[in-house]
Amino acid sequence: MEAAVSSAESPALHPGSALSDVLQDLPALYRKVSARYFGGSRTGRHFVPSKLKRDPATAEVLRQAAAAPRGFGHVVDLGCGRGQLGLALLLAGLASRVSGYDLDGLRIRDAQLAARGLPAEFAQADLNAPDLPAGDTLMLMDVLYLLPEEGQARLLAAMAAAARERMVIRTVDPELGWRSTVGRGMEVLNRRLRGETAEGLCMMPMARLRQSLDALGFVAAVRPCWEGTPFPNVLVMAHRR
Ligand SMILES: C[S@@+](CC[C@H](N)C(=O)[O-])C[C@H]1O[C@@H](n2cnc3c(N)ncnc32)[C@H](O)[C@@H]1O
Repeated sequence: MEAAVSSAESPALHPGSALSDVLQDLPALYRKVSARYFGGSRTGRHFVPSKLKRDPATAEVLRQAAAAPRGFGHVVDLGCGRGQLGLALLLAGLASRVSGYDLDGLRIRDAQLAARGLPAEFAQADLNAPDLPAGDTLMLMDVLYLLPEEGQARLLAAMAAAARERMVIRTVDPELGWRSTVGRGMEVLNRRLRGETAEGLCMMPMARLRQSLDALGFVAAVRPCWEGTPFPNVLVMAHRR
């Protein structure tokens, strides 16, 4: 995967204790990130501030990066959408560089515009045929269950080969009772709205995901990541053994 790096104005790195400052004023960070999207698409301008604020994964991923001794380093964000989470990590001083990839060219365009002047690169790519650059942290947020079963296994193997330290995966747990029913219903609805069928919808059980990561040399911890929502989202932090 190739992407043009924007001319880099490196933000200071703040992993460790100094990070608490950033975490104590998340609204200020979200405003800073959102302002970068003002020149992009109308959808992006509206979506980014709301996504940063309302999705519990944003603050949780920032907290995880803050707890890592050197932050997340070079983050490779797969299925990055408009790239707002990667840019939040960068602007918080919790990543040294971000490389983001997504199938959707319009989202990538928004990400490229927003990333101007930062050590970040965004490009269009299909994760069904992964050819991933190496990074300290390979991130996959709300994407795994969008791929067919065999594509999921291929992508996890490619991520394991590319991740120097860790993988951060937000996905859905299909074994959480009513939450999983709501999550499945939502995904079927989203697919219908996109004109797709729900066939092949494959939400990997956590035991299988953990086993796969273990076989690839990673120890995984799974934690709830649904705060304030009725969805079965979980955050999987997998560290190289
Ligand atoms: C639910 S969105 C999540 C976006 C982003 N990770 C975030 O948290 O804001 C899923 C993203 O996966 C992308 N995607 C779906 N299938 C893909 C594929 N085969 N290759 C690359 N990106 C894909 C979509 O274009 C979309 O941007």
